[in-house]
Amino acid sequence: MKLEGKSVILTGAAGGIGAMLAEALAARGARVALVDRNAGALEEIQERLMNRGGQALAIPADLLDPAQLATVVEQARLGLGGIDLLINVAGLLSFRPFAEEDPALLERIVQLNLITPMLLARQALPHLLKAGSGRIVNVGSTFGSIGFAWFSAYSASKFGLRGFSEALRRELDGTGVGVTYIAPRAVRTKLNTGAIYRMAEAVKMNMDEPDWVVAQIMAAIDRDAKDVYLGFPEKLFVRINALLPRLVDSALRQQNRVMAAFARESLR
Ligand SMILES: NC(=O)c1ccc[n+]([C@@H]2O[C@H](COP(=O)([O-])OP(=O)(O)OC[C@H]3O[C@@H](n4cnc5c(N)ncnc54)[C@H](OP(=O)(O)O)[C@@H]3O)[C@@H](O)[C@H]2O)c1
Repeated sequence: MKLEGKSVILTGAAGGIGAMLAEALAARGARVALVDRNAGALEEIQERLMNRGGQALAIPADLLDPAQLATVVEQARLGLGGIDLLINVAGLLSFRPFAEEDPALLERIVQLNLITPMLLARQALPHLLKAGSGRIVNVGSTFGSIGFAWFSAYSASKFGLRGFSEALRRELDGTGVGVTYIAPRAVRTKLNTGAIYRMAEAVKMNMDEPDWVVAQIMAAIDRDAKDVYLGFPEKLFVRINALLPRLVDSALRQQNRVMAAFARESLR
């Protein structure tokens, strides 16, 4: 998709990946509706983008509040004068033994990571279909293809997002509207808690910088990519896990034991 002059709805726009993505989109001439729950942070980002000649509209919204979620696409459409691209970035995780998962947090994770992108896509699609063009970009995770111990709720939500993206892409075939699913491996942002950073160091988990991830998301949009898995060897493990999951069970066994102590730290 050529971004110049396009209208984009971006959730998670105040986050580690989202704020940099907002800058990259605005720098390419897109008009960006910045959606996140921190109104102050959004205003600062909006001001920064506009000072650099970009066009941005802050839409503060708690995406877990059904009433606020319901109006996001319409606010963006009216404010920007249309919609060409919906990018679902907002996300939430928990890292802990599932037997001790907080049920309320579990619900929030599935709601924000899966149901919210589905509901926003549902709001945006009639407009995209009417135009016969546009794209929905869903930011998933390697954990959406390889179920990771101690991240059960998060893995489940991202598996769901990947399935939704695939089904919707097939359903929209021939309409001019595309769907991109892009799955980063771990990224150095505040989404990850101290316990996760310590665990990642202990098991030598690869971590990318958010600016590199943003460049990959931009490249995926440029080439209308379908599925993108970031990082090697993670993208290879995604394939192996799909074909030979028992092999991956064995390969991860030792690492899971090391991770357990850090996952319990999250309960303190
Ligand atoms: N970081 C990683 O290791 C990693 C790896 C793979 C995939 N991803 C995915 O990449 C995406 C972005 O993650 P990130 O690393 O940029 O995380 P982040 O820095 O925590 O950004 C997420 C943003 O979503 C916002 N948000 C949370 N709950 C919300 C709600 N109820 N309503 C509106 N906004 C809400 C957060 O606001 P608050 O700050 O107020 O919570 C934050 O600004 C997520 O979908 C994540 O799953 C991340």
